[in-house]
Amino acid sequence: TTIWVINGPNLNLLGVREPGIYGSQNLHTIEDNIRKQASVLDVNVAFYQSNHEGVMIDWIHEAMGTADGIILNPGALTHYSYAIRDAISSVRIPTVEVHLSNIHSREPFRHTSVIAPVAIGQIAGFGATSYELGLIALLRHLEDQGQ
Ligand code: DQA
Repeated sequence: TTIWVINGPNLNLLGVREPGIYGSQNLHTIEDNIRKQASVLDVNVAFYQSNHEGVMIDWIHEAMGTADGIILNPGALTHYSYAIRDAISSVRIPTVEVHLSNIHSREPFRHTSVIAPVAIGQIAGFGATSYELGLIALLRHLEDQGQ
Protein backbone atom coordinates (compact mmCIF):
# COMPACT_ATOMS: atom_id res chain seq x y z
CA THR A 1 0.00 0.00 0.00
CA THR A 2 1.33 3.40 -0.99
CA ILE A 3 0.02 6.67 0.41
CA TRP A 4 0.95 10.11 -0.88
CA VAL A 5 0.86 13.01 1.56
CA ILE A 6 0.37 16.29 -0.33
CA ASN A 7 0.62 19.66 1.40
CA GLY A 8 -0.27 22.96 -0.22
CA PRO A 9 0.65 26.63 0.08
CA ASN A 10 2.51 27.98 3.11
CA LEU A 11 2.76 24.63 4.84
CA ASN A 12 6.51 24.70 4.19
CA LEU A 13 6.53 27.48 6.81
CA LEU A 14 5.09 25.34 9.61
CA GLY A 15 6.92 25.95 12.87
CA VAL A 16 7.51 29.57 11.91
CA ARG A 17 4.05 30.45 10.67
CA GLU A 18 1.47 31.42 13.33
CA PRO A 19 2.65 28.76 15.84
CA GLY A 20 -0.30 29.62 18.11
CA ILE A 21 -2.61 28.24 15.42
CA TYR A 22 -0.48 25.66 13.62
CA GLY A 23 1.91 24.47 16.35
CA SER A 24 5.67 24.60 16.68
CA GLN A 25 6.60 21.50 14.66
CA ASN A 26 7.98 22.08 11.20
CA LEU A 27 6.84 20.07 8.18
CA HIS A 28 9.92 17.83 8.25
CA THR A 29 9.23 16.79 11.85
CA ILE A 30 5.59 16.12 11.02
CA GLU A 31 6.64 14.07 7.97
CA ASP A 32 9.17 12.11 10.07
CA ASN A 33 6.42 11.21 12.53
CA ILE A 34 4.14 10.04 9.72
CA ARG A 35 7.03 8.03 8.24
CA LYS A 36 7.54 6.26 11.60
CA GLN A 37 3.83 5.55 11.93
CA ALA A 38 3.77 4.25 8.34
CA SER A 39 6.63 1.85 8.95
CA VAL A 40 4.84 0.43 12.01
CA LEU A 41 1.70 0.04 9.87
CA ASP A 42 3.82 -1.41 7.04
CA VAL A 43 2.75 1.06 4.34
CA ASN A 44 4.81 3.21 1.97
CA VAL A 45 4.48 6.97 2.22
CA ALA A 46 5.77 9.72 -0.06
CA PHE A 47 5.69 13.42 0.75
CA TYR A 48 4.98 16.41 -1.46
CA GLN A 49 4.58 20.12 -0.71
CA SER A 50 4.05 22.97 -3.13
CA ASN A 51 2.98 26.58 -2.99
CA HIS A 52 1.61 26.24 -6.53
CA GLU A 53 -1.86 24.98 -7.36
CA GLY A 54 -0.86 23.65 -10.80
CA VAL A 55 2.05 21.69 -9.38
CA MET A 56 -0.29 20.08 -6.86
CA ILE A 57 -2.70 19.19 -9.66
CA ASP A 58 0.14 17.58 -11.64
CA TRP A 59 1.07 15.48 -8.59
CA ILE A 60 -2.53 14.38 -8.10
CA HIS A 61 -2.53 13.23 -11.75
CA GLU A 62 0.82 11.47 -11.29
CA ALA A 63 -0.55 9.66 -8.25
CA MET A 64 -2.81 7.72 -10.60
CA GLY A 65 -1.57 4.15 -10.85
CA THR A 66 0.97 4.69 -8.05
CA ALA A 67 -0.81 5.87 -4.92
CA ASP A 68 -3.58 3.83 -3.31
CA GLY A 69 -4.65 6.83 -1.28
CA ILE A 70 -3.89 10.50 -0.71
CA ILE A 71 -3.72 12.56 2.47
CA LEU A 72 -4.27 16.13 1.36
CA ASN A 73 -3.88 19.41 3.17
CA PRO A 74 -4.57 21.98 0.46
CA GLY A 75 -3.95 24.99 2.78
CA ALA A 76 -6.01 28.01 1.76
CA LEU A 77 -6.77 26.33 -1.60
CA THR A 78 -9.20 24.20 0.43
CA HIS A 79 -11.61 27.08 0.43
CA TYR A 80 -11.71 27.92 -3.28
CA SER A 81 -9.81 25.55 -5.58
CA TYR A 82 -12.34 23.89 -7.84
CA ALA A 83 -9.33 22.81 -9.92
CA ILE A 84 -7.92 20.70 -7.08
CA ARG A 85 -11.37 19.35 -6.34
CA ASP A 86 -11.78 18.35 -10.00
CA ALA A 87 -8.33 16.71 -9.98
CA ILE A 88 -9.33 14.55 -6.99
CA SER A 89 -12.60 13.51 -8.62
CA SER A 90 -10.82 12.85 -11.93
CA VAL A 91 -8.23 10.43 -10.54
CA ARG A 92 -10.69 8.79 -8.16
CA ILE A 93 -7.97 7.99 -5.62
CA PRO A 94 -9.43 7.80 -2.10
CA THR A 95 -8.45 11.06 -0.43
CA VAL A 96 -8.63 12.23 3.16
CA GLU A 97 -8.62 15.99 3.71
CA VAL A 98 -6.64 17.07 6.77
CA HIS A 99 -6.07 20.36 8.55
CA LEU A 100 -3.96 21.20 11.55
CA SER A 101 -6.41 23.83 12.75
CA ASN A 102 -10.15 23.46 13.25
CA ILE A 103 -11.20 25.41 10.15
CA HIS A 104 -14.81 25.43 11.40
CA SER A 105 -13.96 27.49 14.48
CA ARG A 106 -11.98 30.13 12.56
CA GLU A 107 -12.84 32.94 10.12
CA PRO A 108 -16.05 32.36 8.15
CA PHE A 109 -14.14 32.00 4.83
CA ARG A 110 -12.43 28.90 6.28
CA HIS A 111 -15.71 27.18 7.15
CA THR A 112 -16.23 26.10 3.56
CA SER A 113 -14.18 23.36 1.97
CA VAL A 114 -14.73 22.83 -1.75
CA ILE A 115 -12.59 19.68 -1.41
CA ALA A 116 -14.65 17.96 1.31
CA PRO A 117 -17.45 16.73 -1.01
CA VAL A 118 -14.96 14.70 -3.08
CA ALA A 119 -12.92 13.44 -0.10
CA ILE A 120 -13.74 10.33 1.92
CA GLY A 121 -13.80 12.61 4.92
CA GLN A 122 -12.14 15.50 6.68
CA ILE A 123 -10.03 15.62 9.85
CA ALA A 124 -9.38 19.08 11.29
CA GLY A 125 -8.24 20.57 14.55
CA PHE A 126 -5.79 18.06 15.98
CA GLY A 127 -2.56 19.75 14.94
CA ALA A 128 0.04 17.38 13.48
CA THR A 129 -2.03 14.48 14.84
CA SER A 130 -4.62 15.22 12.12
CA TYR A 131 -2.20 13.60 9.63
CA GLU A 132 -1.78 10.48 11.76
CA LEU A 133 -5.53 10.17 12.21
CA GLY A 134 -5.90 10.70 8.47
CA LEU A 135 -3.52 7.84 7.75
CA ILE A 136 -5.40 5.46 10.06
CA ALA A 137 -8.75 6.48 8.56
CA LEU A 138 -7.48 6.11 5.00
CA LEU A 139 -6.00 2.65 5.61
CA ARG A 140 -9.19 1.50 7.31
CA HIS A 141 -11.19 2.75 4.32
CA LEU A 142 -8.90 0.92 1.87
CA GLU A 143 -9.19 -2.27 3.95
CA ASP A 144 -12.98 -1.99 3.93
CA GLN A 145 -12.85 -1.59 0.14
CA GLY A 146 -10.80 -4.80 0.00
CA GLN A 147 -7.62 -3.10 -1.23
C1 DQA B 1 -4.95 24.82 7.01
C2 DQA B 1 -6.19 25.71 7.21
C3 DQA B 1 -6.34 26.69 6.06
O1 DQA B 1 -7.46 27.53 6.27
C4 DQA B 1 -5.11 27.57 5.97
O2 DQA B 1 -5.21 28.43 4.85
C5 DQA B 1 -3.85 26.78 5.90
C6 DQA B 1 -3.69 25.64 6.80
C7 DQA B 1 -4.71 23.92 8.24
O3 DQA B 1 -3.98 22.92 8.10
O4 DQA B 1 -5.19 24.20 9.33
O5 DQA B 1 -2.93 27.10 5.15
O6 DQA B 1 -5.17 23.99 5.90
